[in-house]
Amino acid sequence: LPMLLMWGVIGYLLGSIPFGMVITRAFGLGNLREIGSGNIGTTNVLRTGSKAAAAATLLLDGGKGAAAVLLARALAGEDAAQLAGLLAFVGHCFPVWLGFKGGKGVATFLGLLLAIAWPVGVACCMTWLALALLRRISSLAALCAAVAAPIWCLVLGYPSTVALSIVLTLVIFWRHKDNIARLLAGSEPKIGQK
Ligand code: G3P
Repeated sequence: LPMLLMWGVIGYLLGSIPFGMVITRAFGLGNLREIGSGNIGTTNVLRTGSKAAAAATLLLDGGKGAAAVLLARALAGEDAAQLAGLLAFVGHCFPVWLGFKGGKGVATFLGLLLAIAWPVGVACCMTWLALALLRRISSLAALCAAVAAPIWCLVLGYPSTVALSIVLTLVIFWRHKDNIARLLAGSEPKIGQK
């Protein structure tokens, strides 16, 4: 149990690194909190106009979720891997460094799923991409990918990942409540729009 707890803490600390804010500052693009939605994720970094900064944010926010899982799995096994992935996601959404006001978890969710059960991760990325291409709204694509995650777990033969997926989906919906209100009002911006 102390071992599991330790991997939870390591996952949280990895996940809580707000790469979007760090990269936006490093690129000299200003304070992400004062841009667009004020969110710390890839979609909002893209609103600075820098595709490179957005791509770096996506890779690092996804990568920290994958890294937490892969590290924990290599050193402590599958239970530790799932816990570290979940806590990396929690760390991104509720980072202690930002007064627990973090991101919406989408990139980290995709990264940790790719590491836990790669076919599910690929299917969720494809779901996101398909919706993004069809509707050009990042939050809508994310909500659809989140709903699809537990379904993909069942369809692709990963029943042991269903419970984790459902938790991730619920938190993603909770973190997107402002986006959901804008989607219902028809005022959610398209990808790349301010
Ligand atoms: O993944 C975050 C995205 O779904 C919404 O981001 O900045 O439009 O609220 P944003």
